[in-house]
Amino acid sequence: MDLAAIVTAFKERFGAEPETVVQAPGRVNLIGEHTDYNDGFVLPLALERATYLALRRRTDERVVAVSLEKGEATFDLSALQKGEGWAEYPKGVAWALQQDGFKLSGWEGVLSSDVPSGAGLSSSAALELATMQAFAVVSGFPWDPKRMARLAQRAENEWVGAMTGIMDQLISACGEEGSALLIDCRSLETKNVPVPEGTAVVVMDTTTRHRHAGGEYNERRRQCEEAAAFFGVPALRDVSMAAFGAREGELAEPARRRARHVVSENARTEAAAEAMGRDDAEALGQLMSESHMSMRDDFEISSPELDLMVGAAQAQASCYGARMTGGGFAGCAVALVQEADVGGFSERVAAQYREATGLEPALYICRGAAGASVVWGQLQK
Ligand code: GLA
Repeated sequence: MDLAAIVTAFKERFGAEPETVVQAPGRVNLIGEHTDYNDGFVLPLALERATYLALRRRTDERVVAVSLEKGEATFDLSALQKGEGWAEYPKGVAWALQQDGFKLSGWEGVLSSDVPSGAGLSSSAALELATMQAFAVVSGFPWDPKRMARLAQRAENEWVGAMTGIMDQLISACGEEGSALLIDCRSLETKNVPVPEGTAVVVMDTTTRHRHAGGEYNERRRQCEEAAAFFGVPALRDVSMAAFGAREGELAEPARRRARHVVSENARTEAAAEAMGRDDAEALGQLMSESHMSMRDDFEISSPELDLMVGAAQAQASCYGARMTGGGFAGCAVALVQEADVGGFSERVAAQYREATGLEPALYICRGAAGASVVWGQLQK
Protein backbone atom coordinates (compact mmCIF):
# COMPACT_ATOMS: atom_id res chain seq x y z
CA MET A 1 0.00 0.00 0.00
CA ASP A 2 1.30 3.44 -0.94
CA LEU A 3 0.98 5.32 2.36
CA ALA A 4 2.67 8.40 0.88
CA ALA A 5 -0.14 8.72 -1.68
CA ILE A 6 -2.76 8.68 1.09
CA VAL A 7 -0.88 11.30 3.10
CA THR A 8 -0.45 13.48 0.00
CA ALA A 9 -4.15 13.19 -0.80
CA PHE A 10 -4.92 14.15 2.80
CA LYS A 11 -2.74 17.27 2.56
CA GLU A 12 -4.36 18.27 -0.73
CA ARG A 13 -7.88 17.81 0.56
CA PHE A 14 -7.51 19.15 4.11
CA GLY A 15 -4.54 21.52 3.77
CA ALA A 16 -2.57 20.03 6.69
CA GLU A 17 -0.63 16.96 7.79
CA PRO A 18 -2.71 14.04 9.12
CA GLU A 19 -2.26 13.45 12.85
CA THR A 20 -2.34 9.69 12.64
CA VAL A 21 -2.60 6.74 10.27
CA VAL A 22 -4.49 3.56 11.21
CA GLN A 23 -4.97 0.26 9.40
CA ALA A 24 -7.11 -2.87 9.52
CA PRO A 25 -6.53 -5.99 7.40
CA GLY A 26 -8.74 -8.22 5.27
CA ARG A 27 -8.55 -11.99 5.80
CA VAL A 28 -8.36 -15.34 4.11
CA ASN A 29 -10.02 -18.30 5.80
CA LEU A 30 -8.11 -21.60 5.70
CA ILE A 31 -11.12 -23.67 6.75
CA GLY A 32 -14.38 -23.31 8.72
CA GLU A 33 -16.86 -21.68 6.35
CA HIS A 34 -20.36 -20.57 7.37
CA THR A 35 -19.63 -22.04 10.79
CA ASP A 36 -19.22 -18.73 12.63
CA TYR A 37 -22.93 -17.83 12.86
CA ASN A 38 -23.54 -21.43 13.93
CA ASP A 39 -21.36 -20.78 17.01
CA GLY A 40 -18.66 -23.03 15.56
CA PHE A 41 -14.95 -22.87 14.65
CA VAL A 42 -13.05 -20.92 11.99
CA LEU A 43 -9.35 -20.77 11.09
CA PRO A 44 -8.50 -17.53 9.25
CA LEU A 45 -5.30 -15.52 8.71
CA ALA A 46 -5.24 -11.73 8.48
CA LEU A 47 -4.08 -10.65 5.03
CA GLU A 48 -1.15 -8.40 4.23
CA ARG A 49 -3.78 -6.27 2.45
CA ALA A 50 -5.66 -3.70 4.47
CA THR A 51 -7.66 -0.49 4.65
CA TYR A 52 -5.40 2.44 5.59
CA LEU A 53 -6.81 5.67 6.93
CA ALA A 54 -4.92 8.94 7.50
CA LEU A 55 -6.87 11.34 9.68
CA ARG A 56 -7.02 14.19 12.14
CA ARG A 57 -9.51 15.03 14.84
CA ARG A 58 -12.21 17.64 14.28
CA THR A 59 -13.53 19.82 17.05
CA ASP A 60 -17.14 19.31 15.95
CA GLU A 61 -19.22 16.16 15.53
CA ARG A 62 -18.72 15.70 11.81
CA VAL A 63 -16.97 12.90 10.00
CA VAL A 64 -15.57 13.72 6.56
CA ALA A 65 -14.13 10.60 4.94
CA VAL A 66 -12.59 10.50 1.47
CA SER A 67 -12.06 7.07 -0.03
CA LEU A 68 -9.53 7.14 -2.88
CA GLU A 69 -11.51 4.34 -4.52
CA LYS A 70 -15.09 5.21 -3.65
CA GLY A 71 -15.40 8.95 -3.18
CA GLU A 72 -16.26 11.35 -0.36
CA ALA A 73 -18.82 10.89 2.42
CA THR A 74 -19.85 13.20 5.24
CA PHE A 75 -22.05 12.54 8.24
CA ASP A 76 -22.96 14.07 11.55
CA LEU A 77 -22.46 12.00 14.71
CA SER A 78 -25.42 13.62 16.44
CA ALA A 79 -27.82 12.87 13.55
CA LEU A 80 -26.89 9.53 11.98
CA GLN A 81 -29.22 8.56 9.17
CA LYS A 82 -29.27 5.48 7.02
CA GLY A 83 -28.39 5.92 3.37
CA GLU A 84 -26.73 3.98 0.57
CA GLY A 85 -23.15 3.15 -0.37
CA TRP A 86 -19.81 2.54 1.33
CA ALA A 87 -20.33 5.20 4.02
CA GLU A 88 -22.92 2.94 5.69
CA TYR A 89 -19.99 0.97 7.17
CA PRO A 90 -18.31 3.90 8.97
CA LYS A 91 -21.74 5.25 9.90
CA GLY A 92 -22.82 1.88 11.25
CA VAL A 93 -19.62 1.68 13.30
CA ALA A 94 -20.31 5.13 14.80
CA TRP A 95 -23.86 4.05 15.57
CA ALA A 96 -22.77 0.79 17.25
CA LEU A 97 -20.14 2.58 19.35
CA GLN A 98 -22.68 5.17 20.47
CA GLN A 99 -25.23 2.45 21.27
CA ASP A 100 -22.59 0.93 23.53
CA GLY A 101 -22.12 4.22 25.38
CA PHE A 102 -18.97 5.62 23.75
CA LYS A 103 -18.73 9.41 23.37
CA LEU A 104 -17.29 10.06 19.94
CA SER A 105 -15.29 12.92 18.44
CA GLY A 106 -15.52 13.82 14.76
CA TRP A 107 -12.60 13.41 12.34
CA GLU A 108 -11.60 13.96 8.76
CA GLY A 109 -9.55 11.52 6.80
CA VAL A 110 -8.45 9.91 3.56
CA LEU A 111 -8.61 6.15 3.18
CA SER A 112 -7.56 3.58 0.66
CA SER A 113 -7.80 -0.19 0.56
CA ASP A 114 -6.03 -2.90 -1.38
CA VAL A 115 -8.51 -5.54 -0.22
CA PRO A 116 -10.71 -6.07 -3.29
CA SER A 117 -14.43 -5.79 -2.57
CA GLY A 118 -16.79 -8.66 -3.32
CA ALA A 119 -13.83 -11.06 -3.42
CA GLY A 120 -14.50 -12.99 -0.21
CA LEU A 121 -11.56 -11.33 1.57
CA SER A 122 -13.55 -9.18 4.03
CA SER A 123 -13.04 -5.73 2.62
CA SER A 124 -16.02 -4.56 4.69
CA ALA A 125 -14.55 -5.82 7.99
CA ALA A 126 -11.29 -4.04 7.11
CA LEU A 127 -13.21 -0.81 6.55
CA GLU A 128 -15.20 -1.25 9.76
CA LEU A 129 -12.18 -1.95 11.96
CA ALA A 130 -10.12 0.88 10.41
CA THR A 131 -13.00 3.24 11.14
CA MET A 132 -13.23 1.87 14.67
CA GLN A 133 -9.50 2.55 15.21
CA ALA A 134 -10.03 6.10 13.96
CA PHE A 135 -12.82 6.68 16.50
CA ALA A 136 -10.77 5.07 19.30
CA VAL A 137 -7.81 7.35 18.56
CA VAL A 138 -9.67 10.65 18.21
CA SER A 139 -12.10 9.93 21.06
CA GLY A 140 -9.38 8.60 23.38
CA PHE A 141 -10.91 5.29 24.42
CA PRO A 142 -8.88 2.10 24.96
CA TRP A 143 -8.68 -0.48 22.19
CA ASP A 144 -10.25 -3.76 23.27
CA PRO A 145 -10.00 -5.86 20.07
CA LYS A 146 -12.72 -8.42 20.85
CA ARG A 147 -15.20 -5.82 22.03
CA MET A 148 -14.48 -3.74 18.93
CA ALA A 149 -15.00 -6.81 16.72
CA ARG A 150 -18.37 -7.48 18.35
CA LEU A 151 -19.45 -3.88 17.81
CA ALA A 152 -18.30 -3.92 14.18
CA GLN A 153 -20.37 -7.07 13.68
CA ARG A 154 -23.33 -5.29 15.25
CA ALA A 155 -22.85 -2.42 12.77
CA GLU A 156 -22.90 -4.88 9.90
CA ASN A 157 -25.94 -6.79 11.22
CA GLU A 158 -28.10 -3.96 12.48
CA TRP A 159 -27.05 -0.95 10.42
CA VAL A 160 -26.00 -2.45 7.09
CA GLY A 161 -28.42 -5.40 7.36
CA ALA A 162 -26.04 -8.27 6.45
CA MET A 163 -26.49 -11.06 8.99
CA THR A 164 -22.82 -12.05 9.01
CA GLY A 165 -21.03 -13.89 11.80
CA ILE A 166 -18.05 -12.71 13.86
CA MET A 167 -15.13 -14.24 11.91
CA ASP A 168 -14.16 -11.32 9.67
CA GLN A 169 -14.28 -8.63 12.31
CA LEU A 170 -12.51 -10.79 14.88
CA ILE A 171 -9.56 -11.72 12.67
CA SER A 172 -9.28 -8.14 11.39
CA ALA A 173 -9.09 -6.97 15.01
CA CYS A 174 -6.99 -9.80 16.50
CA GLY A 175 -4.80 -11.11 13.65
CA GLU A 176 -1.29 -12.29 14.61
CA GLU A 177 1.70 -11.90 12.36
CA GLY A 178 2.87 -15.19 10.87
CA SER A 179 -0.06 -17.23 12.18
CA ALA A 180 -3.58 -18.42 11.54
CA LEU A 181 -6.08 -18.05 14.40
CA LEU A 182 -8.40 -20.81 15.57
CA ILE A 183 -11.48 -18.96 16.78
CA ASP A 184 -14.25 -20.47 18.85
CA CYS A 185 -17.11 -18.29 17.66
CA ARG A 186 -19.18 -19.04 20.76
CA SER A 187 -16.67 -18.09 23.47
CA LEU A 188 -14.51 -15.89 21.19
CA GLU A 189 -11.50 -17.72 22.55
CA THR A 190 -8.61 -17.61 20.07
CA LYS A 191 -5.50 -19.72 19.62
CA ASN A 192 -2.51 -19.02 17.37
CA VAL A 193 -1.90 -21.84 14.93
CA PRO A 194 1.10 -21.42 12.60
CA VAL A 195 0.85 -23.05 9.15
CA PRO A 196 2.96 -26.21 8.71
CA GLU A 197 6.71 -25.84 8.21
CA GLY A 198 7.73 -25.55 4.54
CA THR A 199 4.24 -24.69 3.28
CA ALA A 200 2.69 -21.48 1.97
CA VAL A 201 -0.91 -20.30 1.92
CA VAL A 202 -1.73 -19.05 -1.58
CA VAL A 203 -4.75 -16.83 -2.18
CA MET A 204 -6.19 -17.47 -5.65
CA ASP A 205 -8.46 -14.70 -6.87
CA THR A 206 -10.78 -15.77 -9.70
CA THR A 207 -11.46 -12.02 -10.20
CA THR A 208 -15.18 -12.79 -10.31
CA ARG A 209 -17.11 -10.70 -7.79
CA HIS A 210 -20.30 -11.41 -5.88
CA ARG A 211 -23.15 -8.96 -6.33
CA HIS A 212 -26.35 -10.46 -5.03
CA ALA A 213 -24.88 -12.73 -2.39
CA GLY A 214 -26.47 -10.85 0.51
CA GLY A 215 -29.85 -12.54 0.05
CA GLU A 216 -28.31 -15.99 -0.49
CA TYR A 217 -26.16 -15.55 2.62
CA ASN A 218 -29.09 -14.63 4.85
CA GLU A 219 -31.06 -17.53 3.38
CA ARG A 220 -28.29 -20.02 4.28
CA ARG A 221 -28.29 -18.61 7.77
CA ARG A 222 -32.05 -19.11 8.11
CA GLN A 223 -31.77 -22.70 6.89
CA CYS A 224 -29.10 -23.40 9.51
CA GLU A 225 -31.29 -21.92 12.24
CA GLU A 226 -34.18 -24.12 11.12
CA ALA A 227 -31.94 -27.18 11.31
CA ALA A 228 -30.73 -26.21 14.80
CA ALA A 229 -34.35 -25.82 15.92
CA PHE A 230 -35.09 -29.29 14.53
CA PHE A 231 -32.31 -30.76 16.67
CA GLY A 232 -33.54 -28.73 19.65
CA VAL A 233 -30.21 -26.97 20.23
CA PRO A 234 -29.22 -23.28 20.29
CA ALA A 235 -26.88 -23.66 17.28
CA LEU A 236 -25.56 -26.36 14.93
CA ARG A 237 -22.30 -26.23 16.86
CA ASP A 238 -24.11 -28.42 19.41
CA VAL A 239 -24.82 -31.23 16.93
CA SER A 240 -22.13 -33.93 16.61
CA MET A 241 -21.64 -35.97 13.43
CA ALA A 242 -23.14 -38.96 15.26
CA ALA A 243 -26.22 -37.02 16.40
CA PHE A 244 -26.65 -35.67 12.88
CA GLY A 245 -26.33 -39.13 11.32
CA ALA A 246 -28.93 -40.58 13.67
CA ARG A 247 -31.66 -38.16 12.61
CA GLU A 248 -30.71 -36.63 9.28
CA GLY A 249 -33.33 -38.69 7.45
CA GLU A 250 -36.09 -36.78 9.23
CA LEU A 251 -34.79 -33.40 8.03
CA ALA A 252 -36.24 -31.91 4.84
CA GLU A 253 -33.99 -30.74 2.00
CA PRO A 254 -32.20 -28.41 1.65
CA ALA A 255 -31.87 -28.01 5.45
CA ARG A 256 -30.40 -31.52 5.66
CA ARG A 257 -27.53 -30.76 3.28
CA ARG A 258 -26.97 -27.34 4.79
CA ALA A 259 -26.71 -28.83 8.27
CA ARG A 260 -24.45 -31.64 7.03
CA HIS A 261 -22.03 -29.03 5.72
CA VAL A 262 -21.94 -27.08 8.98
CA VAL A 263 -21.67 -30.10 11.28
CA SER A 264 -18.94 -31.73 9.18
CA GLU A 265 -17.14 -28.42 8.61
CA ASN A 266 -16.88 -27.84 12.35
CA ALA A 267 -15.34 -31.28 12.79
CA ARG A 268 -12.95 -30.61 9.88
CA THR A 269 -11.89 -27.26 11.32
CA GLU A 270 -11.02 -28.73 14.71
CA ALA A 271 -9.17 -31.57 12.97
CA ALA A 272 -7.34 -29.02 10.79
CA ALA A 273 -6.08 -27.11 13.85
CA GLU A 274 -4.87 -30.40 15.33
CA ALA A 275 -3.13 -31.30 12.06
CA MET A 276 -1.40 -27.92 12.10
CA GLY A 277 -0.35 -28.51 15.69
CA ARG A 278 1.58 -31.62 14.58
CA ASP A 279 2.86 -29.93 11.40
CA ASP A 280 0.88 -32.34 9.20
CA ALA A 281 0.46 -30.57 5.85
CA GLU A 282 -1.00 -33.67 4.14
CA ALA A 283 -3.86 -33.96 6.63
CA LEU A 284 -4.58 -30.24 6.57
CA GLY A 285 -4.66 -30.15 2.77
CA GLN A 286 -6.95 -33.17 2.63
CA LEU A 287 -9.39 -31.47 5.03
CA MET A 288 -9.34 -28.30 2.91
CA SER A 289 -10.21 -30.23 -0.23
CA GLU A 290 -13.01 -32.09 1.58
CA SER A 291 -14.31 -28.73 2.77
CA HIS A 292 -14.51 -27.55 -0.83
CA MET A 293 -16.66 -30.53 -1.84
CA SER A 294 -18.95 -29.89 1.09
CA MET A 295 -19.39 -26.23 0.13
CA ARG A 296 -19.91 -27.11 -3.52
CA ASP A 297 -22.40 -29.95 -3.04
CA ASP A 298 -24.05 -29.48 0.36
CA PHE A 299 -23.94 -25.77 1.06
CA GLU A 300 -24.05 -24.84 -2.65
CA ILE A 301 -22.01 -21.66 -2.44
CA SER A 302 -19.28 -22.35 -5.01
CA SER A 303 -19.24 -21.19 -8.65
CA PRO A 304 -17.86 -22.61 -11.92
CA GLU A 305 -14.84 -20.29 -11.72
CA LEU A 306 -14.11 -21.23 -8.09
CA ASP A 307 -14.41 -24.94 -8.94
CA LEU A 308 -12.03 -24.49 -11.89
CA MET A 309 -9.45 -22.67 -9.79
CA VAL A 310 -9.65 -25.23 -6.99
CA GLY A 311 -9.39 -28.10 -9.48
CA ALA A 312 -6.36 -26.55 -11.19
CA ALA A 313 -4.66 -26.10 -7.81
CA GLN A 314 -5.45 -29.62 -6.58
CA ALA A 315 -4.01 -31.10 -9.80
CA GLN A 316 -0.52 -29.74 -8.97
CA ALA A 317 1.89 -32.18 -7.32
CA SER A 318 3.08 -29.47 -4.90
CA CYS A 319 -0.45 -28.70 -3.65
CA TYR A 320 -1.65 -30.33 -0.41
CA GLY A 321 -5.25 -29.13 -0.81
CA ALA A 322 -7.45 -26.24 -1.94
CA ARG A 323 -10.89 -24.79 -1.39
CA MET A 324 -12.97 -21.71 -2.01
CA THR A 325 -12.81 -19.21 0.85
CA GLY A 326 -15.19 -16.65 2.37
CA GLY A 327 -18.93 -16.23 1.90
CA GLY A 328 -18.92 -17.83 -1.55
CA PHE A 329 -20.58 -17.44 -4.97
CA ALA A 330 -17.49 -15.70 -6.41
CA GLY A 331 -14.13 -14.29 -5.35
CA CYS A 332 -11.19 -16.22 -3.98
CA ALA A 333 -9.98 -19.72 -3.29
CA VAL A 334 -7.08 -20.72 -1.07
CA ALA A 335 -4.44 -23.45 -1.45
CA LEU A 336 -1.82 -24.99 0.81
CA VAL A 337 1.33 -25.42 -1.27
CA GLN A 338 4.94 -26.58 -0.83
CA GLU A 339 6.78 -23.34 -0.23
CA ALA A 340 9.62 -24.25 -2.60
CA ASP A 341 7.22 -24.48 -5.55
CA VAL A 342 4.98 -21.45 -4.95
CA GLY A 343 6.28 -19.64 -8.06
CA GLY A 344 5.80 -22.58 -10.42
CA PHE A 345 2.49 -23.52 -8.81
CA SER A 346 1.12 -20.01 -9.28
CA GLU A 347 2.21 -19.82 -12.91
CA ARG A 348 0.71 -23.18 -13.83
CA VAL A 349 -2.59 -22.60 -12.03
CA ALA A 350 -2.91 -19.11 -13.51
CA ALA A 351 -2.24 -20.43 -17.02
CA GLN A 352 -4.86 -23.18 -16.68
CA TYR A 353 -7.42 -20.80 -15.26
CA ARG A 354 -6.77 -18.18 -17.95
CA GLU A 355 -7.07 -20.82 -20.66
CA ALA A 356 -10.36 -22.17 -19.33
CA THR A 357 -12.10 -18.87 -18.53
CA GLY A 358 -10.40 -16.10 -20.49
CA LEU A 359 -10.05 -14.26 -17.14
CA GLU A 360 -6.77 -13.02 -15.64
CA PRO A 361 -6.47 -14.38 -12.08
CA ALA A 362 -4.34 -12.97 -9.25
CA LEU A 363 -2.37 -15.36 -7.01
CA TYR A 364 -0.36 -14.32 -3.98
CA ILE A 365 1.01 -15.65 -0.71
CA CYS A 366 -0.54 -14.82 2.66
CA ARG A 367 1.69 -15.29 5.70
CA GLY A 368 -0.63 -13.86 8.33
CA ALA A 369 -0.61 -10.19 9.35
CA ALA A 370 -1.23 -8.29 12.57
CA GLY A 371 -4.75 -7.03 13.35
CA ALA A 372 -6.02 -3.45 13.31
CA SER A 373 -3.48 -0.95 14.65
CA VAL A 374 -2.24 2.61 14.75
CA VAL A 375 0.49 2.75 12.11
CA TRP A 376 1.93 6.02 13.36
CA GLY A 377 1.18 9.19 15.30
CA GLN A 378 -0.91 8.35 18.37
CA LEU A 379 -2.85 11.53 19.28
CA GLN A 380 -2.02 13.31 22.52
CA LYS A 381 -4.90 13.39 24.96
C1 GLA B 1 -18.70 -13.89 5.28
C2 GLA B 1 -19.20 -13.46 6.65
C3 GLA B 1 -18.55 -14.29 7.76
C4 GLA B 1 -18.65 -15.79 7.47
C5 GLA B 1 -18.21 -16.09 6.05
C6 GLA B 1 -18.45 -17.53 5.68
O1 GLA B 1 -17.36 -13.57 5.15
O2 GLA B 1 -18.92 -12.11 6.87
O3 GLA B 1 -19.16 -13.97 8.99
O4 GLA B 1 -19.94 -16.25 7.73
O5 GLA B 1 -18.89 -15.28 5.10
O6 GLA B 1 -17.66 -18.37 6.45
